[in-house]
Amino acid sequence: MGWLQGEVALITGGGSGLGWALVERFIEEGAQVAVLQRSKAKVDALNEHFGGKVLAIEGDVASYADNVRAVNATVERFGKLDCFVGNAGIWDHYADIVNTSGEQLEKAFDEIMGINTKSLILGAKAALDELVKSEGSIIFTLSNSALYSAGGGPVYTASKHAGVGVMKELAYELAPKVRVNAVAPSGMNVNIKGAASLGQENVGLLDARDPEKIARGMPLNFLPEPEEMTGSYVLLASRQNNRPLTGVLINAECGLGIRGLRQPRAGFFDE
Ligand SMILES: NC(=O)c1ccc[n+]([C@@H]2O[C@H](COP(=O)([O-])OP(=O)(O)OC[C@H]3O[C@@H](n4cnc5c(N)ncnc54)[C@H](O)[C@@H]3O)[C@@H](O)[C@H]2O)c1
Repeated sequence: MGWLQGEVALITGGGSGLGWALVERFIEEGAQVAVLQRSKAKVDALNEHFGGKVLAIEGDVASYADNVRAVNATVERFGKLDCFVGNAGIWDHYADIVNTSGEQLEKAFDEIMGINTKSLILGAKAALDELVKSEGSIIFTLSNSALYSAGGGPVYTASKHAGVGVMKELAYELAPKVRVNAVAPSGMNVNIKGAASLGQENVGLLDARDPEKIARGMPLNFLPEPEEMTGSYVLLASRQNNRPLTGVLINAECGLGIRGLRQPRAGFFDE
């Protein structure tokens, strides 16, 4: 018996990367899963791979109407909703303030905040009545950029820091009925795409970056596969395990926060 036996989850951005790994893991743990996904090709890939096991809905997380449509379709198919996972996101390829034009920053702010942050509020609002009914939970995918600088440019970093605020505020507003938590993954072996407003919609994080080099920058010295991130979500979604947990951010960031000024190497330090 899995930890999520009989639970129903709606996962945004479940058509690739971490979202896809979450769909697989939640099913493995016994959940029934729906996905809200912008790309038609990824909706088709979900249907092809999972067949009737997953309900894949095409839509935009930055649209309230699409979030409502996804929640309604989930409840129609599976009868209830226990967990909303706000996971869809885009990156900014380190679009920094010095080298990015003001016009681009203006457009990128609206696009990235819309997909990474506004979506969390709109998805939670759309799912609210069902989650109150089921006394379920909300989980947001944030990032090391929710905690530190240097994981993106100012816009991506702002979008993920803001996600911490949304998570804490909703945890406060929805207690004691709905638990609201988040996971902050480090960089992963996933080719996340950038913002269309920056001309990056088809450019992936790993297209021109060496995964080995990224791994060497992690205190734990590896670049996690998305599957390795899913345990934190199972913990936060599991009714047997999450009872005392709300307003919690799991820093699944391979030790970035404890790095300090020196590079730890198996108990010794490189000077
Ligand atoms: N890849 C990393 O290194 C990394 C590190 C830390 C945090 N994250 C976060 O993990 C989450 C998942 O990203 P990923 O790394 O799996 O990349 P990914 O590109 O594989 O997954 C993101 C998914 O979101 C979907 N999506 C994008 N915009 C959407 C929209 N408007 N509406 C609906 N769906 C949309 C994409 O089609 C894609 O399937 C994101 O929130 C990202 O910020 C990623």
